Amino acid sequence: MSKIFDLSGKVALVTGASSGLGLHFARTLAAHGAAVGVTARRRERLESLVGELHGAGRKAAAVAMDVMSSESIRAGYDAAEAALGPIDIVVNNAGISIVKPALEMPEADWDEVVNTNLRGAWLVAQTAAQRMVAAKRGGRIVNIASILGLRTIGQVAPYNAAKAGLLHLTRALAMDWARYGIQVNAISPGYIETEMNQAFWQTAAGKRLIDRVPQRRLGKPAELDGALLLLASDAGAFMTGANIVVDGGHTVNSL
Ligand SMILES: NC(=O)c1ccc[n+]([C@@H]2O[C@H](COP(=O)([O-])OP(=O)(O)OC[C@H]3O[C@@H](n4cnc5c(N)ncnc54)[C@H](OP(=O)(O)O)[C@@H]3O)[C@@H](O)[C@H]2O)c1
Repeated sequence: MSKIFDLSGKVALVTGASSGLGLHFARTLAAHGAAVGVTARRRERLESLVGELHGAGRKAAAVAMDVMSSESIRAGYDAAEAALGPIDIVVNNAGISIVKPALEMPEADWDEVVNTNLRGAWLVAQTAAQRMVAAKRGGRIVNIASILGLRTIGQVAPYNAAKAGLLHLTRALAMDWARYGIQVNAISPGYIETEMNQAFWQTAAGKRLIDRVPQRRLGKPAELDGALLLLASDAGAFMTGANIVVDGGHTVNSL
């Protein structure tokens, strides 16, 4: 079997690993050999994931990290490095969405969404890059954006804006940090069934959205594994500033 996606000896850190895609990404990276620092605010959920990974013979550590706070990010990063060693791969996955008409969106909701999805990803990436540069080691940063950074839907204006910002931030950081051997790329998932959105897909609006996906179905978290492993491993060594869209064809005719 080809070793091209092998992550043995690498250390990864995943934000928002307490549920949904982040939890899945942590399992995938661990299954391919990486030691994984799993981070989020709900620590008890992280402990149970770490128990599962240890049970499978993998190295992992649970670390509390709130991406809204630079202090929490630095403390979490320190704790993950103390437990597992210098971090090679960062998956910037923590994200939230608040659904409200733009006319009524309170300032606090804008701040929460943009500060989690964009400012949070920026602070985590900056912390990672500062450590990688100081240690004279390159690294990989994988930002989990969204097709809503490329096209929009109603009622989630701050989310649309934050994800578009994250895609451009990916390109900007890729340019700034290429000289240090740090690759910065993004994945833009389409509609993937996770805990966060499960109930919505049963509604009439949810079913209408699924009907607009050319493949006429939702994606599964495992269908992002190819893109994740490509960007995290040597297979993607010549990629930086890229965005991989995994959406069943949803954005092809809407850009
Ligand atoms: N599911 C989809 O269809 C889809 C499509 C495109 C993009 N995405 C993106 O994929 C990522 C994961 O989404 P998901 O569907 O897996 O959602 P999810 O199940 O709700 O997971 C979101 C994760 O983010 C964490 N999080 C939220 N606020 C945080 C904060 N301030 N600090 C640290 N962690 C925080 C949550 O952990 P705690 O609450 O424990 O902190 C949770 O682990 C998001 O960036 C989302 O925008 C998802």
